[in-house]
Amino acid sequence: MQMIEYESRFKTVWEAFILLLTIAVTLVTPISIIFNLTFDTGFLIFDLIVTFFFLIDILLTFNTTLKIGRHYLKDRKSVAKHYLKRWFIFDALATIPFHIIFLGIETLALGRFLRFFRLARLFKLLSSTKTLAKVRESKIFNPSIVRLMLLIFWILIASHLIACGWIFITGDFQATLTDTYIKAYYWTITTVTTIGYGDISPAGMGNLAIIYTIIIEIIGAGMYGFIIGNIANLIANIDVAKSQYREKMEKISTFLKYRNVPVPLQKRINDYYDYLWENRRGYDESAVMEDLPISLKTTVSLYLNKDIIEKVPLFKGASQAFIREIIMNLKPVIFTPGDYIVRAGEIGDEMYFISHGSVDVVSEDESTVYATLTAGNFFGEIALLLSTERTATIKAREYCDLYALDKTTFDRILSKYPDFARDIEELAEKRRAETKTNNGK
Ligand code: CMP
Repeated sequence: MQMIEYESRFKTVWEAFILLLTIAVTLVTPISIIFNLTFDTGFLIFDLIVTFFFLIDILLTFNTTLKIGRHYLKDRKSVAKHYLKRWFIFDALATIPFHIIFLGIETLALGRFLRFFRLARLFKLLSSTKTLAKVRESKIFNPSIVRLMLLIFWILIASHLIACGWIFITGDFQATLTDTYIKAYYWTITTVTTIGYGDISPAGMGNLAIIYTIIIEIIGAGMYGFIIGNIANLIANIDVAKSQYREKMEKISTFLKYRNVPVPLQKRINDYYDYLWENRRGYDESAVMEDLPISLKTTVSLYLNKDIIEKVPLFKGASQAFIREIIMNLKPVIFTPGDYIVRAGEIGDEMYFISHGSVDVVSEDESTVYATLTAGNFFGEIALLLSTERTATIKAREYCDLYALDKTTFDRILSKYPDFARDIEELAEKRRAETKTNNGK
């Protein structure tokens, strides 16, 4: 039989199911002990089902590949060795149906204590931490939210167990199971959160109840502090990028106010950062990529810039080597509405590809609009090709995401790829002629 893949869909669904079953077992088992559900048919059936699925889970674990850190254990022998050394004993204990085994002697004097063996089922919680860790590691959810959820999960489990312990020790039973449980749970929460109304207290319930209360009070105070600290921290970390971005914005606006920068300009700066946040979550792509090794950088660049490759007709059908070379040298730049990207008459050492937005190609005095260029177009090639001054002025009509290509790379690519050189020269010639006639020069 082939091994099941650790990351397969089946395994994920199975793990989720076992986790739910473990939670149900954790909730039901202590209740079954306190309320003496030994001969309850529903509980018996539940116990049989749990035994069955936990057993299957052990068998599946022996037949599933494992991931430890970045390494995979793929052969059955090393998986078994690893499992036997660590979790197997807990899973095995949790699978033994102590309830059914001791059913016959339950009524004997000692039998009542044998009920506690059922708590062995809770060992399954230990191996379910593996599943929870997997959720945390998966990049699907925000890690801080997962941590918050896990914290809540453990708090609920712990408070349930504490409430059950209280019922067991005090024997404070009410008319129904629900009433008893709610009252105990209420005691647990008021004690653990240190609210302690005192309406339910261990006074008159015996020393054991008092000692239990002392222990829970001590644990509760620690737990409460831990929870409050963690939750504050987690909430602050849920969106680190957003809070860092806000901090940056505050610093910038304080500075701008301090230097008396005119309000309209301040607004423009603000708008620019808003745009940066909406489109790139405040990150400059090149800064993110700086740390990556070259091979990863190429792959990530190709992925991030794939829309520009698709948009620019000039790149259609080009070779992979050509695209890679261009992509690796494109520098993302943003212009705000009304910005001058290129000014006629200046010396130019960059050309631009438009990813988003549109620009006007205008005469030096801005009286004539030669053309409006949109996503997928490029400009600034004439000055690079002919080493002349810019033939026109380029003005951003709206927010523009552009990719700049510097002259050195441009020249290198041109000499390497004659097809590209021919296409771009043709277009440049056509544009120059158009501009010239329009200019009357
Ligand atoms: P360059 O001369 O480097 O800088 C201005 C740019 O405007 C120029 O390169 C061309 O890319 C572009 N341009 C000039 N004339 C036209 C035109 N008629 N139509 C479209 N784009 C043009």
